Amino acid sequence: MKNFRSDNEAPVHPDIMQAMVDINHGFDESYGYDHLSRQLNERFQQLFGCWCEVLPLTTGTAANGIAIALSTPAYGAVYCHPNSHINVDECGAPEFFSGGAKLISVPGEQGKIECDVLNRHLENSGHHGEHESLPSTISLTQCTESGTVYSLEELKAFKKTAKQYGLAVHMDGARFANALVTLGVDAAEATWQSGVDLLSFGATKNGAMMAEALIVFNPAYNKQIKRLRKRAGHLISKMRFVHAQLLAYLDNDLWLNLARHANQQARFFAESMRNNRHVQLLHPVEANEVFCRLPVDLINDLEQRDFKFHRWPGEKGVIRLVFSFATRASDTRSLIEAIDRF
Ligand SMILES: Cc1ncc(COP(=O)(O)O)c(C=O)c1O
Repeated sequence: MKNFRSDNEAPVHPDIMQAMVDINHGFDESYGYDHLSRQLNERFQQLFGCWCEVLPLTTGTAANGIAIALSTPAYGAVYCHPNSHINVDECGAPEFFSGGAKLISVPGEQGKIECDVLNRHLENSGHHGEHESLPSTISLTQCTESGTVYSLEELKAFKKTAKQYGLAVHMDGARFANALVTLGVDAAEATWQSGVDLLSFGATKNGAMMAEALIVFNPAYNKQIKRLRKRAGHLISKMRFVHAQLLAYLDNDLWLNLARHANQQARFFAESMRNNRHVQLLHPVEANEVFCRLPVDLINDLEQRDFKFHRWPGEKGVIRLVFSFATRASDTRSLIEAIDRF
């Protein structure tokens, strides 16, 4: 397997597939009322050490869209990084689900919103009264779209800003497991204790099959959450198969072990490239994604050798490599050798 294109292209982890097979007998209640639903809620509440509402979904876009709809009125504003998935890769789903909320890009290096820039923006808001959108939500991607991870200190700075201006904090955690193992803290510290009100909890990229969840920590945002899910077309009739996956994902720390492996492969690759004169790493490698600049001839050569990765759009010579739970150490080594041979 020479696929470094996306963790979405990785297979389903056998334990997660087995969990679906194990419950695939007989009948059970539909639409989230099956025998696993209570277990799922309890399991997530235990993981996060607090009350939370768990909404199983099949896509991260739905999790983000419903989260924004919960925290942001149609006349509200959401602050996000220019490269964030909600801004560039969801075809307006958050705006659609919220009934027209405005996404406002706040730039920053390495895929992270610069909190000081956000603060300046917020200080200067309000002058136009009802002519401007109401500041409502800060959306942070963890890990970021540049493969970096917000530290707890950075998250706490956003918590302070959110408190000062009465904003919600949404975390797009499509790769939350990868961020968590990097931070080395527990799930509570990385989320609600650091100010996160709503978490899009990804599992698909890390071994599940169409299994994601929206986790709501703040009861204030819990209003009509189930109706919003229905309106989004995500009230899944055979939800027990998503429940089974999420439970297997959390069982025995499978999710953390898979993410740890993916991160280790990315770090091993990055460290092996440090002294390679052809390869420039563009961002710190803090999780399972590596962005680098290489000579175009080398990129062509790797493709001819059947390595698969994304050429980054609009940036000549830039590629993205994604390492997953299914990346074998031998795959990583053969990529390193192919680059070193050039
Ligand atoms: C940062 C981020 N957020 C959310 C998603 C969820 O996307 P999807 O709707 O394809 O599950 C992705 C998937 O690529 C992502 O990378």
